[in-house]
Amino acid sequence: MQNEDDSNTLNYIQKQFLCNTPVKEICWQNFSNLTVTVQDEIINNTIRLDSVLKYPLNLSYQKTFLKHLLQLLEKQGSAISDALYEEYARLVALPNNNINFKHYWLEKGKNIILKEDVHLICDGTTGLRTWQAAIALSEWVLANTTHFTAKTVVELGSGTGLVGLVISLLCKPQAVYLSDCHPSVLATLCDNLKLNVGCENGKNCDLLQRFIVKECVNSCEVHVLNLPWEDVCREFCQTLGQVDVVVAADVVYDKTIFEPLISAVECLFKYCSVKQFILSCTERNEDTLDKFLSLIGSKFKICDIVVPPQRNFIWTEQPPVKIFNITKDT
Ligand SMILES: C[S@@+](CC[C@H](N)C(=O)[O-])C[C@H]1O[C@@H](n2cnc3c(N)ncnc32)[C@H](O)[C@@H]1O
Repeated sequence: MQNEDDSNTLNYIQKQFLCNTPVKEICWQNFSNLTVTVQDEIINNTIRLDSVLKYPLNLSYQKTFLKHLLQLLEKQGSAISDALYEEYARLVALPNNNINFKHYWLEKGKNIILKEDVHLICDGTTGLRTWQAAIALSEWVLANTTHFTAKTVVELGSGTGLVGLVISLLCKPQAVYLSDCHPSVLATLCDNLKLNVGCENGKNCDLLQRFIVKECVNSCEVHVLNLPWEDVCREFCQTLGQVDVVVAADVVYDKTIFEPLISAVECLFKYCSVKQFILSCTERNEDTLDKFLSLIGSKFKICDIVVPPQRNFIWTEQPPVKIFNITKDT
């Protein structure tokens, strides 16, 4: 692409497309001119990317993306690239599928591809898609990679695994435990681990019947753990050993799970010598979050962490995400 502004616009559209940003929020108008050459560049860098053909985005999202572009060009009376029609015809002929992938392209040249479901709730769980609190926390992690260097990290309620994978792949930790409790979520978590850090010596493990899969990235071991918060006890923590940091995103939404979540965190602090719990929440309901903060605040010290600006990731800012640093009052 000849013009630098157009090239930046293309990069941003590509990033938005890859993580399924709603099509109506994409700013095509920033291109100086949507010529046939620019349209071909858009197609080649989105729909026709090798990684997208291999790990496809939601089909209806891709069709909407192209339809929106076609409508815009028709409205402008612009010539339309053959590639646009060809790709639209190809996508229309494909069968629908709920499983699809999102591609998170990060500044440091590392990409994370996650298998996700299109629905907010599927199979009785909210854990099969990545939520904005996880995306915002991943941005914070990338701005603070050294925080996790050489540390052992446990993620509670990992869902699709974005936060734990960002830590595993980009922060040089000592070990990372991704955890959840729902069978479909755990299966997806294992798939996402293998997809992003899979290697020949990945092992199936069984310790206290909780470890499901272990992979290595550089010299860091990344585990998937079947870990309902209700089951975090002294015996389990002693088997796990020392943990430095616990992280969690979007686990504060249902008052009935506050008690087991707080008790699990207490146990991890007490028996695994955890020093810090970094929690990212979406404030959908002020009362729910306040209630949780007052419960956990009676046992721990809570400080706000400033949510970083969007650089690597894109997320909706309403309702707002809040990130907390939770430590023991000593
Ligand atoms: C809203 S999702 C958030 C997933 C992910 N952290 C994210 O932000 O994208 C909540 C996650 O917490 C998990 N969860 C809920 N209750 C749990 C419990 N008692 N023990 C362990 N995990 C639990 C769910 O299975 C689900 O994956």
